Amino acid sequence: MSRPFVAGNWKMNTTVAEAKVLASHLRDDLRDVNEIEIVLCPPFISLAEVSNVVENSRIKTGAQNMHYEDKGAFTGEVSAAMLTGLCQYVILGHSERRRDFGESDEFINRKAKKALELGINPIICVGEVLAEREHGREREVVSASVSQCLADIVFDERLVIAYEPVWAIGTGLAATPGEAQGMCSLIRSLLADRFGNENARLVPIIYGGSVSAGNVSELAREADIDGGLIGGASLDPEQFSEIVRTIVRIRR
Ligand code: PGA
Repeated sequence: MSRPFVAGNWKMNTTVAEAKVLASHLRDDLRDVNEIEIVLCPPFISLAEVSNVVENSRIKTGAQNMHYEDKGAFTGEVSAAMLTGLCQYVILGHSERRRDFGESDEFINRKAKKALELGINPIICVGEVLAEREHGREREVVSASVSQCLADIVFDERLVIAYEPVWAIGTGLAATPGEAQGMCSLIRSLLADRFGNENARLVPIIYGGSVSAGNVSELAREADIDGGLIGGASLDPEQFSEIVRTIVRIRR
């Protein structure tokens, strides 16, 4: 089985001071939790402070985005080279970036290759929009996205794939466990086709979209859901801690 994995995507929330408080709270609450990879993804401006707060714990940090170029005239952007030493992970291709900043699978693929090259583990997000699901196209859309995002990437244990149906993000309407499992198992089989069965089992496939302390246990019971990418609920330390503990209990 893949390693249990949970990431908190704080999105554009928390000042630096608030981020430090949230990270300290989580570090203390989760001190005794093992056997799961826990990643906090604060806004860029808080990454250094949050990384300091969790330095001597098992908690890792991640950025919410990066550019594929090393440096240069890209106002407002941050490169993988700048993240090196600051965090271990980066979220790539989140649907909010695809929607608001026109990020394509090809663009995300370039970022993923650069992240791997510079030692940052990519959490690659894929997922269909509501209209695609309503037309029964979710498998086709996600398959194309996975294959384009992973183009030219050889097997790498540092990869993480997040299945995040866009209609479930921030809506309170999570996918049913059956729907999420169906798509995560599709992603597992796509990875198996590319990298072989054994390697496919080593890549955490996580579900994101309105995960809460209330629904995480039924999601984590599904065979191909190795954990979660948590948005709103990751800003509430009690709830995030409970989500982490539930995933550990179910998947270890
Ligand atoms: P949500 O967000 O948990 O608030 O739905 C998930 C995400 O966007 O990663």
